[in-house]
Amino acid sequence: MRNIAEFKEYWSMRAKLKGNTLGAVILDSSDWVLNELNSIVHKQNLEIINSEVLNTRLFLLDAGCGYGRISKELKVKKPNINIIGVDISRQFLYLWKKNLDEPAAVATINQLPFKDNVFNVIICNTALMYLQKQDRQRTLDEFRRTLKNGGKLLMTENNKWGVMFVNMVQKDFSFIKNILLKDVIELEGAAVFDEKELRNLLNQTDFKILKIIGSLVPFPIPLFLFYLNHKSSKIRRNLFTSIWPLRRLSVYLTFVAVK
Ligand SMILES: C[S@@+](CC[C@H](N)C(=O)[O-])C[C@H]1O[C@@H](n2cnc3c(N)ncnc32)[C@H](O)[C@@H]1O
Repeated sequence: MRNIAEFKEYWSMRAKLKGNTLGAVILDSSDWVLNELNSIVHKQNLEIINSEVLNTRLFLLDAGCGYGRISKELKVKKPNINIIGVDISRQFLYLWKKNLDEPAAVATINQLPFKDNVFNVIICNTALMYLQKQDRQRTLDEFRRTLKNGGKLLMTENNKWGVMFVNMVQKDFSFIKNILLKDVIELEGAAVFDEKELRNLLNQTDFKILKIIGSLVPFPIPLFLFYLNHKSSKIRRNLFTSIWPLRRLSVYLTFVAVK
C-alpha cells in the first residue's frame, strides 16, 4: 500500500488534472457508464449525509474533504452549519476555498490539528482507505477525541463485493482473482474493506454504531440503477440498509456512529 507522502502526491495530481469535477474524487474515467455511476454515487452520498445532518448551529469536520464536493452542497441546504475541511492536498484546499466560504487546514486525518471535544459531526467520505493499516485506528481515535460526547460520525468507505462489480463493468477481472486468492485486498494502492473490518474498527474505538447504510448496487447495470437512482431514493436507502444481502453487495457503506 502507498504511504501518506505518495498519496499526497497522487491526490494533488488528480486535483490539478481534474479540478472541480466528480472525476477528481470518485471514479476517474471518461467512460459513459462510469460517468453515470459517478453522478449516482454523488447523489447517493449527498442524500445520505443530508438525511443524517440537522440544520442547526453545529460544528462539522469534513475529514479528507477534497474540493468540497459534499460540504458545498450541504452548506447550501443547511446554511446554519459551521464547516471546517481537512485534507492532505493543498491543491484540493485551494479549490475548497473557491467553493466554500469556510475554513480548511492541510493535515493528515490521523493527526488532527484540533482540541478535544469540538465537533458535533464528523464526515469522512472515502478517505480512510488511503491510510495504512496502523494509521486507521489512529484516525478513528482522532475522530473520537475531537468529537463532542454524543457527537456523530458519518463514515463512508468502499465495500469489496460492490467494488468487484464495478471492476467487472470496467472489464478488469484481476480484482476477483485478488478476492478469491485472499491476498491483502487493495485497489490502486488503497485499501478495500468489508463491513466486518470497519465494524470492528469502530467498535474497538468505542463508537456506538447506529446504522449501516449501503449504496450503489450496480447489478444489473445500468437500467436497474438508473431506475433506483431517479425514482425511489428513499426506498433504495431503506432497502439497502435493512436487507443484508443487498447491503453486502453495495459499493459503499456509510456507518452512522456516535461517541
Ligand atoms: C476519494 S477522495 C474523497 C474526497 C471527498 N471526501 C469527497 O467525497 O468528495 C479522497 C480524499 O482524501 C484525501 N486524503 C487522502 N489521504 C488523506 C490523509 N491521510 N489525510 C487527509 N486527507 C487525505 C485526498 O487528498 C482526497 O481529497
